Amino acid sequence: MTAHDTIAVVDNGGQFAHLIATKVRDHVRVKTVIVDPHADVSDLEGVKGIILSGGPDSIHEEDAIQLNPEILDLNVPVLGLCYGMHEIVMGYKGKVGRSEFKEYGFASLHFKDDPIFKGVPQGDRVWMSHGDKTTLLPEGFRTIGATENCPIAAFTDEKRKRWGFQFHPEVEDTIHGDEMLRNFVVDICGARQDWTAEKNLEEILSDIKKEARGRKVLCLVSGGVDSTVVASLLSRALPQDRCRFIHVDTGLMRKDESTKVMEALGKQGLLDLKVIDASERYLNALSGKVDPEEKRKIIGRLFIDIINEEAGEAVSSEWVLAQGTLYPDTIESGGTRNADVIKTHHNRVDIIMRMIDEGRVIEPVKELYKAEVREVGRRLGLPKELVQRHPFPGPGLGIRALCQDKDVMRKDLRESAEVSPRVERGIREDAWGCKNARGSVLPVRSVGVKGDARSYEHPVALWVEGAVQWKELKLFSTRLVNRVQGINRCVLVMAPRSIGTPIPVERHITKERMDLLRKADSMVMEGLRNHGLYDSIWQCPTVLVPVGFSGGEMVVIRPVWSERAMTAEVSELPEAFFDDIVPRLLGVGGVDAVAVDVTSKPPGTIEWE
Ligand code: XMP
Repeated sequence: MTAHDTIAVVDNGGQFAHLIATKVRDHVRVKTVIVDPHADVSDLEGVKGIILSGGPDSIHEEDAIQLNPEILDLNVPVLGLCYGMHEIVMGYKGKVGRSEFKEYGFASLHFKDDPIFKGVPQGDRVWMSHGDKTTLLPEGFRTIGATENCPIAAFTDEKRKRWGFQFHPEVEDTIHGDEMLRNFVVDICGARQDWTAEKNLEEILSDIKKEARGRKVLCLVSGGVDSTVVASLLSRALPQDRCRFIHVDTGLMRKDESTKVMEALGKQGLLDLKVIDASERYLNALSGKVDPEEKRKIIGRLFIDIINEEAGEAVSSEWVLAQGTLYPDTIESGGTRNADVIKTHHNRVDIIMRMIDEGRVIEPVKELYKAEVREVGRRLGLPKELVQRHPFPGPGLGIRALCQDKDVMRKDLRESAEVSPRVERGIREDAWGCKNARGSVLPVRSVGVKGDARSYEHPVALWVEGAVQWKELKLFSTRLVNRVQGINRCVLVMAPRSIGTPIPVERHITKERMDLLRKADSMVMEGLRNHGLYDSIWQCPTVLVPVGFSGGEMVVIRPVWSERAMTAEVSELPEAFFDDIVPRLLGVGGVDAVAVDVTSKPPGTIEWE
């Protein structure tokens, strides 16, 4: 891409670096790159300034992240936030000590006159999250901000152009955080504010032309935002006879998914767009299978076979491959090393791996975050519905319909009966919050995460009287899962309203069942849109669980908010949404219960398989 003024964000772990980078791009309109704390200074050549992020470590831990000391020798402004502040203190021989108590939450900031606080009111609310604090300023530094519990909440050394904050300006809870970041990036570092979607679009199109160098381009379009935007970009940048687009309809897609994607891309003028209807092959291969891992492998393997059959000719060196890799997926540094490994799973087919090895891959949106890709999509004229879509897993609805045969049912019934008394005791003993909760262990199993390991245990169905107290319920379910062995998530049953005995039913992946799930899923999605909730939820799987109360199955709604899917919070849905959606779901043949998953990740996962 053409040169933009750039701010480097040093990633000290956790979620902070991406948040800072996104904030500076979105709100200050200056390009950011994320670098590793051990980065060589040559990687920082030309940057206008550096922000050292916070991190989960204490600087005194033995294996705490160490900043390459040469970074502090660079003659550009540096702003250290929390852990980053402590790196500056240690780098210039000051002292960082343990706070008497850890401080989380809000504080009022009182500050001295300094360019970094331009436009910020005295006593402004800032957000703190720390156990360590600066106890001795290095020589040449002076305090410019304090809170009640933190006498050195902000400092500077104007000569060396160093600033440090104990609080986090990048989080929403610091009211004037954006202004502080802007003051640093624009006024202090002197960076030009030229990171805009229009400019990005022009640059991306011209880069595609350059990188393709007259070769043909193969692009797999899943229907997700990233690949759709990439397909649309290619069709703008290159002559049509040089692009080939392939979409595989696995039969595990959402309602009208393939058609909608194809229509939208058709409107963009994509001519060589091949839709492969592989639904029968998928349904046959999955027939009778119940183990989630086996199902996932079958789905992945079949995708490989189909693409290898279809794209065989692209092996020749006249072809390159275009992929929708995003910025967070491309960087390998402190806190971002695990960038969604699962997601790439589907792109690892032989032919693609070969092309990657041979350097024949173009990744037009690799410098962008998801929100920026969406913005580019809007500029390209893609429909809002497509651009705003929630992430959808490669194996699709195939991993959102739990399956079981007679053997599994027998085993799950036996095991869930063993777990039941422990759960009942757990609920009885929890004397606060959800006192009136009643529960029943479901005789099915779902995936979860405990520590770093995957769990495959029972969900608990909960009933509570009266209106849902979300906060209490979420805490209660986390406590229950953490205290009782053998369970890994809780669902709140919305219908039937009174506690019943869960009855497992034998179910597999069939066309009829996929149609049922498609219907339920589209009702939920439509309900979220109608109630104005869709955009405030990160992802909302609808899961079909083969256990009910009168011979049918249960539909579980799983609304979550997440940044990068490594952790997730339950998104609260209003009563009006359930009043509307539950009766409609119960009207779908084969459904006799509706529940909402109230488990965070961990201990649950977002998907159930
Ligand atoms: P979990 O269930 O592990 O999911 O909390 C985290 C995120 O990854 C998505 N996911 C997948 N995506 N292939 C994909 O392309 C997969 O096999 C897969 N499994 C989970 C999931 O939807 C969530 O966004």
